[in-house]
Amino acid sequence: MLRDEFLRSIPKVELHCHIEGSVRAATFADQAKKHGIALPTDDVEKLYDYETIYEFLVIFGMVSSTLLDQDDFARVAYEAMEDGHRLGNLRYREMFFNPTLHTKRGVPMKTVVDGLAEGINAAEADFGVKGRLIADVYRQDDPADCLQMVEELLEVLRPEVIGLGMDAAEAPDPPEKFVDSFRAAKAGGLRLTSHASEDAPPVNITTCLDLLGCERIDHGYHILSDPAVIQRCLDDDIHFTVCPTSTAVVYGWPDLTSHPIIGMVDAGLKCMLNSDDPTMFHTDIGKEYVDMVPAAGWGVAKVKELVLNGVEATWLDDTDKAAMAAEFSAELDRLAAELEPGELPA
Ligand code: ADE
Ligand code: ZN
Repeated sequence: MLRDEFLRSIPKVELHCHIEGSVRAATFADQAKKHGIALPTDDVEKLYDYETIYEFLVIFGMVSSTLLDQDDFARVAYEAMEDGHRLGNLRYREMFFNPTLHTKRGVPMKTVVDGLAEGINAAEADFGVKGRLIADVYRQDDPADCLQMVEELLEVLRPEVIGLGMDAAEAPDPPEKFVDSFRAAKAGGLRLTSHASEDAPPVNITTCLDLLGCERIDHGYHILSDPAVIQRCLDDDIHFTVCPTSTAVVYGWPDLTSHPIIGMVDAGLKCMLNSDDPTMFHTDIGKEYVDMVPAAGWGVAKVKELVLNGVEATWLDDTDKAAMAAEFSAELDRLAAELEPGELPA
């Protein structure tokens, strides 16, 4: 077996993937047509092209605006899970969605949640890939609207919805603004994570851990500028859900060989790879491994460590985690034994 096939075939979990960023270009076009929404061009692939997080978020909002009824949410969730299964042997994903990008347009929270749950459950039945949902605070929203979002979410909660996260542009809106939303989510039984230090200093990581009560950190790249925060995350076994392609594009790291993920892994931080917004960045969960692993010079043992970090970082219960880790480990070893000599370092 050759390297790329190995990297695509190994079993994976994904903990940092946004449903609105996973809509296929053709589906985006279809959805716009279905609801009579005019787009700037008929060639929607051309819209999936940006140089900054701000440009990206405009299109992310445009994609969101084409989702209105329960079938729409079910369709995009199903297709996103199908893509993960087909392109990267995805087995389990905790997937973000941005409720207020929909509820502010008048879509009921229950329509969003029930549609997404319907889609991921149908994909599990067809492909065996399991999905769970994490609602994201959109940082450019007013904090009172975010708290209201959490309260509305808790009213329509179902077992597929397991957590609260936070995304959108980090630099202008620091995490401490949203402490009430995180407190309410925790009181309602949700697990907590947040995008942090993606585009802001590492103090945002500390704030997310200490003030908001986050259990994982999404991104976290600027941690490399603060050895004390690195040490604290090592001591507390904090997991980082990192995203090679999306961040290389919007934060100007010229290529993956200089991506801070490499320094984070070298520092001993627990990282796992994700596709973030796969269709919107022309990537997929398989491609993230295919591109990042050789760029970093990682070998089979490091790949296995990253995959198993992902399992450990899930919010599955301990019995399910142990079973998944054992299954993945055996499958990965079996695939590694099929690698042609010289394809990957040990
Ligand atoms: N929304 C979707 N993807 C995001 C990212 N990588 N950073 C911030 N907000 C996002
Ligand atoms: Zn993200």
